[in-house]
Amino acid sequence: MRIVLLGGPGSGKGTQAKMLTEKIGVPQISTGDIFRAALKEGTPMGLKAKTYMDKGELVPDDVVIGVVEERLSKPDLDKGYMLDGFPRTLPQAEALDNILNARQTSIDHAVLVDVPDEELVARLSGRRTCRNSDCGAMYHVMFNPPKKEGICDKCGGELYQRDDDSEATIRERLTVYNNQTAPLIDYYETKGLLRRVKGVGPINEIFAAIEKVLA
Ligand code: AP5
Ligand code: MG
Ligand code: ZN
Repeated sequence: MRIVLLGGPGSGKGTQAKMLTEKIGVPQISTGDIFRAALKEGTPMGLKAKTYMDKGELVPDDVVIGVVEERLSKPDLDKGYMLDGFPRTLPQAEALDNILNARQTSIDHAVLVDVPDEELVARLSGRRTCRNSDCGAMYHVMFNPPKKEGICDKCGGELYQRDDDSEATIRERLTVYNNQTAPLIDYYETKGLLRRVKGVGPINEIFAAIEKVLA
């Protein structure tokens, strides 16, 4: 099953993708996570991506498309995958279709996790992420706190606050989402692939709603 996860910054794409991976064994491909891992290793691509991410802007399409094309050629994807945070622009969506067409495959579902802007700001300002990149679990100081403050429940790793989760950068990411990424909702609707899920409420209920649209 090949799934695109659509939704604003903080809508819960990563949270839901991790739960889906555990349940159906299909890998999560998060372009944001790939850039953060590249930055940690200090690669030129990671350093370049950081200059955009810190401002809340999108990394240029050619860079992102190259990264995804490379990831999609790895051998662990025969059961499918979930794309989390890609595509984010119309040229990215078209490039993805071309890559898949060339392999005689296509996307099965584009799941929109629908959350109002005000809620997104509250979520991102309280988010904490596990520093262990093999884990990367997400928490929220109020909505989904770890058992022990600052420590990951799953792996014991240290929790940190992402550099782009400051109030000003969050606002910019929202604007960028609404201008550049939201048009993809129509794009997938026209193709008959859009599955809209209400992204507000308990995390488990949202997960159940996503499982339902994928069934
Ligand atoms: P990326 O890492 O993809 O960030 P994002 O899209 O802004 O999304 P987030 O990861 O912030 O949110 P999420 O939807 O995963 O929510 P989460 O589950 O963490 O991208 C970062 C940057 O990289 C971009 O700004 C851009 O610069 C660059 N980039 C990446 N991809 C790109 C591309 N394709 N093209 C160009 N540039 C690209 O949840 C958020 C919080 O809410 C957590 O604290 C969580 O615990 C909490 N939460 C989750 N669900 C609920 C719930 N139901 N109720 C209450 N709280 C909840
Ligand atoms: Mg994420
Ligand atoms: Zn962890």
